Parts: sequence; structure tokens; C-alpha cells
Amino acid sequence: MKFALIFVSVLVGCLGLADYVMKTFPNPPCWCWSAGQDRVPAPAPQPKLIEDAVPGSYGTEVDWNNPQHIIPLDYNQEQGKRIFYQQCVWCHSDTTPAGPSNRSNVTPTPPLMNDGAVFNGMSDLSLRQAIALGGRASGHSAMMPPYGKSLTQGEILDLIAYMRAIAVPAYDQSSARRLRNRRRKPL
Ligand code: HEC
Repeated sequence: MKFALIFVSVLVGCLGLADYVMKTFPNPPCWCWSAGQDRVPAPAPQPKLIEDAVPGSYGTEVDWNNPQHIIPLDYNQEQGKRIFYQQCVWCHSDTTPAGPSNRSNVTPTPPLMNDGAVFNGMSDLSLRQAIALGGRASGHSAMMPPYGKSLTQGEILDLIAYMRAIAVPAYDQSSARRLRNRRRKPL
């Protein structure tokens, strides 16, 4: 009888101690599988769409009017982007990678380089002339410098390819032709 009493009290003590340990330890010593331990972690999502690309990365440009939209660029458009950020960004964009641009100090205010309302109606040829010969030669302001001596024909074509790629509203060759024809009609 005495032995049974000791046995029961030791048993109760052990169970009580185990219960106390389970409740007090932040990570109780575990002899069973915790929930979800058998699950294999899911692989990190891989970018599948161009929209998932990192903004500013090579071969893409962030839509200036909608940072959620990333525009894919081909090789020539990417070259045009590089030249734009070297030569034109100071006047034809409100922000530059180095901070605010000089655009607001220039008179007349240069059009934003993605302004489709201005550039979609201009043919590639007239854009080439405007960039190579500058504003003065095409009857515009001399504030637009001539680049015909500092950029090659190829670089100017790359710039135009970039301008077409980032245009808002989007550049579409056939509607641009319609726009030009409408302009040519006598009033
Ligand atoms: C010093 C400032 C300045 C820089 C740098 C500059 N531009 Fe301009 N750009 C202007 C101004 C000002 C106008 C507007 C001229 C006007 O409407 O009279 C203009 C107009 C234009 C036009 C429209 C011309 C037309 O006939 O309507 C194009 C195209 C253009 N720029 C392209 C470029 C490109 C490409 C670069 C870089 C290679 C560049 N610009 C660099 C100031 C600048």
C-alpha cells in the first residue's frame, strides 16, 4: 500500500513537471511533428512577365506616366535610351537620375521626350532633321541644339526608336501617317 502511494505521487509529480515544461518553454522539447513540418517550402516566384522586371534594368524603360508599366526595349531602343540619358534628359524630362532637370528653365519649354501628342505626328525624317540640324534650322527655337556633328546617323535613328517606344499615347505608324495627312489638308 505504501509503495503504491509513493508510485502514484511520483507519477503525478512527473506529469505535472512535464506539463509545466510544455507551458513555460517558448519552444517546448518536441517529440512529435509540428504542423506543416513535412511541407516542402514553395520555390520563390520567378519573373515571367515583362511587368515583373526590375524598373531601370537593361532592356526596359519605366513608362513615365505610369510607373507600374514597364516597356520592353530592343537593342536599338536601348542604345537610344542610353544616348537620351546622356544628351537629352536635361531638357526633355522633368527628372534625371541625378535629380531635377533643367527643363523648367528653358524657354520655350521643350516637349517631354515621351509626348506622343507632339512627336507621333512627326515622321522619322523630320525628327532626324530636327535632331541633326537643331531648332534654328527647322524654324524653331535655337534652344534645341544641333546634334548632326556629335551623334552618328545610327545614334539618331536609335534615339528615334527609343522615342517611339516610350510615346504616350503610344506611337502607331499608320495612325501617325493619318495624323500627318490631316495636317497637310488645307484648312
Ligand atoms: C538645351 C536644351 C535641349 C537639349 C539638351 C535637347 N533639346 Fe530638344 N528641344 C529643346 C527645345 C527648347 C525644343 C523646342 C523648340 C521649339 O519648339 O521651338 C526642343 C525640341 C525638340 C524636338 C522637336 C523639334 C521640332 O521640330 O518640333 C525634338 C525632336 C528634340 N528636341 C529632340 C532632342 C533630342 C533627341 C535631344 C538629345 C540628343 C535633345 N532634343 C536635346 C531643347 C533641348
